[in-house]
Amino acid sequence: MRHMKAIAYTEPGGPDVLHVIELPDPQADTGEILIRVRAAAVSPTDTMRRIGARDPGGAQPPYVVGMDAAGVIEAIGPDTDTDLQVGDEVMAIVVPSGSHGAYAEKVAVPATSVARIPQGVSFAEAATLPMNGLTARLALDTLKLPAGSTIAVTGAAGAFGGYSVQLAKADGHTVVADAAAKDEELVKSLGADVILPRGEGFAAAVRERFPDGVDGMIDGAVQLDEIVPAAKDGATIVTIRGDKGERDRGVMFWSIVVSKYAFDPVALDTLRRQAEAGVVSLRVADVLPKEQAAEAHRRLEAGGVRGRIVLEF
Ligand SMILES: NC(=O)c1ccc[n+]([C@@H]2O[C@H](COP(=O)([O-])OP(=O)(O)OC[C@H]3O[C@@H](n4cnc5c(N)ncnc54)[C@H](OP(=O)(O)O)[C@@H]3O)[C@@H](O)[C@H]2O)c1
Repeated sequence: MRHMKAIAYTEPGGPDVLHVIELPDPQADTGEILIRVRAAAVSPTDTMRRIGARDPGGAQPPYVVGMDAAGVIEAIGPDTDTDLQVGDEVMAIVVPSGSHGAYAEKVAVPATSVARIPQGVSFAEAATLPMNGLTARLALDTLKLPAGSTIAVTGAAGAFGGYSVQLAKADGHTVVADAAAKDEELVKSLGADVILPRGEGFAAAVRERFPDGVDGMIDGAVQLDEIVPAAKDGATIVTIRGDKGERDRGVMFWSIVVSKYAFDPVALDTLRRQAEAGVVSLRVADVLPKEQAAEAHRRLEAGGVRGRIVLEF
């Protein structure tokens, strides 16, 4: 049996629990595509799993995390409905479970989770797109606001927040975004119409600018109740850490999980086209060899990373 290298942990803990292991090569089953991974993005969901903040759902160690992969198709499973071919350069969203995750030399995923990488971009750049791009798409589809609405985004300098700003602009909305002084230029470059200081005062500043409140909000910074005052009566705030329910004035927290769009090849391929058209920008903070996964996690957890750190496989 052939083996591949992956980055894994057996017990949850600090970044140093991550280490290189060997696992049997995954196979492409019916409906699946086997990718020789070249790049895997490092996201907060990976660090949260690593510290044990996510229930492994009965899956046994070793655990491999990572929800974004880009690489080359090595095999296509039998009876798989796809127009992709062996050798194509692709990106995929990976829903991790046990030893199935993107931090690996090879990963087999449903063909519906795979799309070509945007033309002219590196594997590292492509790996920044699937998970957070699809989550931003899901956030906007959840708000379901008519073009011309006003949407506020927190955490706008982050990966998810940044894509949310860009896709909201592409959908024809007015976007209010938060930014630290040092991130103002970055958030402006993403197309935000109004930029206000991030943090506790954001909601009050939004209200001052939009006296009735904004039509919808996307809470990439996980500020939760702190931002409710910025929302119009009855507006929806999309949250990404499971918080949901009604607040004052009929303002509703609506929790989204990207797995809802993880098997939607049209949504992923639309993001590919939007990247090619320059609608979304693929931001890479750094590319590190897979052996430095612990360092990548340390840097992400320290905060202040702009663009994604990507592991090279
Ligand atoms: N539910 C899902 O399916 C799903 C999918 C994708 C992402 N997510 C979640 O979405 C969140 C954002 O992910 P990401 O990849 O975009 O992370 P990220 O790139 O680290 O971005 C988060 C941004 O929020 C900023 N921030 C942190 N605390 C803040 C505060 N109190 N006020 C204002 N800004 C603050 C961060 O700034 P600093 O770096 O300076 O701290 C950073 O710019 C994470 O919690 C992630 O787990 C959930």
